[in-house]
Amino acid sequence: MNAAFPLIFEKDRPGRKGFSLPPCDVPLKPLEELLPQECLRKSRLDLPRLSEVDVVRHYTALSRRNYGVDSGFYPLGSCTMKYNPKINEDVAALAGFASIHPLQGDPTYQGALELLYNMEQCLKEITGMERYSFQTVAGAHGELTGLLIILAYHRSRGEKRNRVLIPDSAHGTNPATVTMTGCEVLQLPSNDKGLVDTATLKAHLDEKTAALMLTNPNTLGLFEKDILEISRLVHEAGGLLYYDGANLNAIMGHCRPGDMGFDVVHLNLHKTFSTPHGSGGPGSGPLGVTARLESFLPYPVTAKDGDRFFLDYQRPRSIGKVHSFFGNFGVVVKAYTYIRMMGARGLKQASDDAVLNANYLLNCLKDIYHVPYRGPCKHEFVLSAKLQKKRGAGAGDIAKALLDYGLHPPTVYFPLIVEEALMIEPTETENKETLDHFVEALKEIAAEIETDPVKIKGAPYSTPVRRLDEVLAARKPVVRWKKEP
Ligand SMILES: Cc1ncc(COP(=O)(O)O)c(C=O)c1O
Repeated sequence: MNAAFPLIFEKDRPGRKGFSLPPCDVPLKPLEELLPQECLRKSRLDLPRLSEVDVVRHYTALSRRNYGVDSGFYPLGSCTMKYNPKINEDVAALAGFASIHPLQGDPTYQGALELLYNMEQCLKEITGMERYSFQTVAGAHGELTGLLIILAYHRSRGEKRNRVLIPDSAHGTNPATVTMTGCEVLQLPSNDKGLVDTATLKAHLDEKTAALMLTNPNTLGLFEKDILEISRLVHEAGGLLYYDGANLNAIMGHCRPGDMGFDVVHLNLHKTFSTPHGSGGPGSGPLGVTARLESFLPYPVTAKDGDRFFLDYQRPRSIGKVHSFFGNFGVVVKAYTYIRMMGARGLKQASDDAVLNANYLLNCLKDIYHVPYRGPCKHEFVLSAKLQKKRGAGAGDIAKALLDYGLHPPTVYFPLIVEEALMIEPTETENKETLDHFVEALKEIAAEIETDPVKIKGAPYSTPVRRLDEVLAARKPVVRWKKEP
């Protein structure tokens, strides 16, 4: 029994119910005559018995304990937690989108196919790729599918390449994905500016190189200015270039992965294109490729013949399917709505504002927290709390202390190459007052650490639960309530 906040099952009271209806005046047959015997319940369905008002209050109270972009600032670096416009939800909820089934047949959902087709044209224009698949339902899923395509491409040329180069600043999903494909990871050390060092890269390229995986701007929020040289070197060695699109929010309308020389791109619609994040689902990580890889994409892809849209299954070189039907279609509808609402100029402005907001924060904080790699940054930046750590409270403590200001903490301890990392991504949707509140909070916390670090180590003080045992929570999560006998 959780006395402070009982579960809905613990509020169960025999006899209570959430409806009241007048007695039925239609003669009813006994259930036994309506349903086969084996389909009838033998015992009561063990659902909690409550009145409607109890249920509403229970879930309203729960919702108040939640924190999301609709509650406040969410500067989680690398995750682009921008506001999700509600118009996206309205459009995705239209019956013509929400109530269709992929098996009902092409002629009956021409509008949905047209949307997928149009979305593909938008993403092609934004990224400079040749074709897209929407089957991939998260960034990491895009990475896996993209690498499988790269490997299929090398195999089709009779080449056995099984090494993938990844900078040491990369997101953890990059090496994890490589390992899942059975390839070998080769970690590239970043140079003192936090960028790929072309000489080091060159030294590691050979006939085993399948690909280089890169984000640009990288996870330090810095633009890989040598990208054209990097691309030339990788291609000359016979490898391909994979673009982790998690950071596309910094460059929309300014430059395109395709023009930088990338061969495969995944996008995170739940980052750049304002759809809700959903722990790998319901997300969407569309995968784009250049012309030479197009035939390897998962099938089916959307195609157009005159005025008719259809699903093209005739793809003998395809790596196969990686998800049912065409991925999380509803998420694509939301992202398409966002793109059409913003227009080309709006998307460029979004990137401009994301970069402006990040640089504003960086400049406000650079004298308080250590900046390991000097800006200007793109859409995010990384601070180090190593000075604060020496004084008694580090990045994790600062993150907890921010909760008492009603703020979501930034990403901490990533990228791994920065000691006591605080990775901050404000996004373009925040106003100056919100940014100033965040700066003030971080300044106050830093000042508090100088005088009373123990207090910061005890934070948070105002949240429903204080410090959890994170190891126990990860190793032995209790996610199901069991009735006491
Ligand atoms: C740089 C980077 N790459 C890849 C991913 C994985 O994306 P997803 O969470 O959509 O699987 C993330 C997610 O935060 C990321 O920040």
